[in-house]
Amino acid sequence: MTSLLEADGVSKGFPGVQALSDMHLELRHNEVLALVGENGAGKSTLMKLLTGALAPDAGHFRLDGEALDPHRSRDISIIHQEFNLMPDLTVAQNVYIGREPRTLGMFVNERRLNERTGQLLDRLGLPLDPRALVKDLTVARQQMVEIAKALSHDARVLIMDEPTAALNDAEVEVLHGLIRRFTGPDSGVIYISHRMEELKRVSDRITVIRDGRFVGTVATAEAELPQIISMMVGRELNTGATPVNVREDRPPVLRIDHLSTKSLLRDISFEVREGEILGVAGLMGAGRTELARAIVGADPVSAGTISVRGRTVRIKNPARAAALRIGYLSEDRKQFGLLLDQSVAANIAISALGQKLSRAGFVDDTKVRITAEDAVRTLKIKTPGVRQEARYLSGGNQQKVVVARWLAKECDLLIVDEPTRGIDVGAKEEIYQLLNDLAAQGRSIVMISSELPEILRMAHRVLVMSGGRLRGELSAAEATQERIMHLATSGATG
Ligand SMILES: Nc1ncnc2c1ncn2[C@@H]1O[C@H](COP(=O)(O)OP(=O)(O)OP(=O)(O)O)[C@@H](O)[C@H]1O
Ligand SMILES: [Mg+2]
Repeated sequence: MTSLLEADGVSKGFPGVQALSDMHLELRHNEVLALVGENGAGKSTLMKLLTGALAPDAGHFRLDGEALDPHRSRDISIIHQEFNLMPDLTVAQNVYIGREPRTLGMFVNERRLNERTGQLLDRLGLPLDPRALVKDLTVARQQMVEIAKALSHDARVLIMDEPTAALNDAEVEVLHGLIRRFTGPDSGVIYISHRMEELKRVSDRITVIRDGRFVGTVATAEAELPQIISMMVGRELNTGATPVNVREDRPPVLRIDHLSTKSLLRDISFEVREGEILGVAGLMGAGRTELARAIVGADPVSAGTISVRGRTVRIKNPARAAALRIGYLSEDRKQFGLLLDQSVAANIAISALGQKLSRAGFVDDTKVRITAEDAVRTLKIKTPGVRQEARYLSGGNQQKVVVARWLAKECDLLIVDEPTRGIDVGAKEEIYQLLNDLAAQGRSIVMISSELPEILRMAHRVLVMSGGRLRGELSAAEATQERIMHLATSGATG
């Protein structure tokens, strides 16, 4: 039987990087094929070749056994790893961009545009308002707009490049439902994800890519996770990092009392001790990111107090937070994190610059370079060098750069919002190890994460939020997925 989509002998190089070499991929009819590999392995590049966004140096593609010119085909649709949305346009305008219904062939018929989008969103079960501006949506909802846009094309092959990186478990379920509805005798899905536990649930087969080369394809039902991981990284992985002990008698570094904001947070109180990793769990919209933003002064506080090392402080903006040695790795790295046209070195050293100034007050080039090269080594950031512009790095390697920046900066308290989003299994371990090292040195970490296994493994203590309130606190010994989910779904309507 012919396959739905085939790629053979595909190669693609960029200056200084051979992204793909003689790569092979086969997608069958009615199949969800997972594509996995480390950050920078070449996954997104291969997808860009399949959708015609890039031209290959060599290789060919077939759809139903017939030669395919991706550049001219409308049969392959993609949900991008990096959103391709216009923030100042509405949901509807984004979904049908370039294909808007028009009156007299001229003016965009906004009413019909909104109606059509509303129908599409209903059909897909996505809770979005066609008239909402994309810039006002959370990352998860922006993701839904991307999904709606991709599914509005009636394509045969749907590519999802890390569709769940920004989603919580319930939203992942919705997405997997969409995938099952999309796949049929004439269609199939290519699914890229770094969340290993998802692959078992969603895929029929798994193709592994390493350093731009095809490693193998296995049936999901017969595959064991450690086998897939060692195919990906080419070595055994040490998954030993577990939290170090934290002493009860250590003083609190941060203390929050009755904190509220106008928008969402209500009467939140807790403290973080020296050397402690405090996990913050909750569903999307629970208020976890809002809490982080309120603490570092990115959003105004309407009531309550914040004390740092026993002294009440007013934190008006993130710069003030940084001066108090509180760092914040935001969940939305594209908007708040990465300077795309700056070098890897500048991006890593940027907030550490204060500490890298030479005596005369000049930025010390050598120190910057050494800091950056250190980070590139520890986090295995794949780049031809620290002078490479950040825009040319793969999605996951861009994430690593922003994570590296905060790890390079000397903070007493580091708030990390989804610190391993989009990061491959090997590098996740490195990040866990680094966070543990920081805690062991007496630094404090507030770790916001939607990945419960990560919270359970790393946190000394877990706070659970829903509806802008704290719903409970669990010690590492008490915390289980079930208990956290129970608290996370409690009082959600109240
Ligand atoms: N336009 C470009 N210019 C230079 N190098 C590039 C460009 N696009 C990709 N690369 C490089 O090609 C390699 C493969 O990148 P790709 O984005 O395909 O990786 P990926 O497997 O999708 O990784 P991730 O899991 O991080 O998303 C990387 O080393 C990347 O830096
Ligand atoms: Mg990618």
